[in-house]
Amino acid sequence: MNPADIASWISDAQKAFAAASDLDALKVARLAHTGDKAPVSLASRALGSLSPEEKASAGKLIGDAKAEIAKALAKATEKLEVERDAKVLLEEVVDITLPVQRTHRGGLHPISIIKNEVSDFFIEQGFSVEEGPELESGWLNFDALNIPADHPARTMQDTFFIEPIESGVVLRTQTSPVQIRSMLTQEPPIYMICPGRTFRADELDATHSPVFHQVEGLVVDKGITMAHLKGTLDNFARHMFGPDVVTRLRPSFFPFTEPSAEVDIFFNGRWIEWGGCGMVNPKVLATCGIDTDIYTGFAFGMGLERTLMVRHGITDMHDIVEGDLRFTRQFGVGL
Ligand code: FA5
Ligand code: MG
Repeated sequence: MNPADIASWISDAQKAFAAASDLDALKVARLAHTGDKAPVSLASRALGSLSPEEKASAGKLIGDAKAEIAKALAKATEKLEVERDAKVLLEEVVDITLPVQRTHRGGLHPISIIKNEVSDFFIEQGFSVEEGPELESGWLNFDALNIPADHPARTMQDTFFIEPIESGVVLRTQTSPVQIRSMLTQEPPIYMICPGRTFRADELDATHSPVFHQVEGLVVDKGITMAHLKGTLDNFARHMFGPDVVTRLRPSFFPFTEPSAEVDIFFNGRWIEWGGCGMVNPKVLATCGIDTDIYTGFAFGMGLERTLMVRHGITDMHDIVEGDLRFTRQFGVGL
């Protein structure tokens, strides 16, 4: 345990610490030069076997050596920690000028847009916007609308029935049951529309879909005539198709209106069927407990897909139902 040895332990440790390239390497050097088996540690433990005089002088030498080694270790640790922090800052830097992956905001489908447009138009005139269930009782979808049990619209070809058949529940084939719901729960005067989803066992083709949308309109008040119906439809058509559109009523038949008509529009040089309409059949008013000596009413029902297709020159229903964003974006949806 001569001073030269001790000096070499110090310088070995200093060199090893200085040579460590990162904190992991420094840890290895620390264990080698300050751990249990390091020369200073072994010497420290050997002090016990020395005589008191030797112990005093050797103890001081070793104590000083330990302090020197600790100082070198602290210096190396500080230097490597600074280096590590600088490296982390560099590696984890965020380049705010890099192009980003754009996430698209959701937007409304054109059918929802046109539905809102129709609702706004009628709300301005004091109509309420009603909703009804898509799973509807057969009584409200058919019977209350004067569609008897043997009417062709009730056969399996047109209607989606819900099992068990005896439940009498169907997927509503039209928005007209919502008229009934309104008349059963409200006292006239009634001014309402109901836009909503409807279902029929039709194949998906260029002009039909098994799931489509209608908007129903109903007015029940004193002195309501066919002229009110015509005026309302004219305003509605002008709002949807522009000021130059012409409408005509073509005699037709619906069990729940009498007289009934198809409403056609003259648009882009040809007549197109837009929907059905008529004066509410007094039988239907009576079913709903409305006094037919006091009140009369009109009703109409249009397809929203049909409205959208005519207005925008869409020739294929598939474009509306398939949800291709290249189609949807053309409606200024902001996607
Ligand atoms: C009715 O559904 C009547 N409830 C309309 C009505 C209401 C008449 C109130 C009188 C008073 P119709 O079955 O014709 O009528 O359907 C109305 C419109 O729904 C049609 O003009 C058409 O635009 C649309 N439509 C019908 N079936 C489909 C389908 N499979 N796909 C897309 N649109 C359809
Ligand atoms: Mg029709």
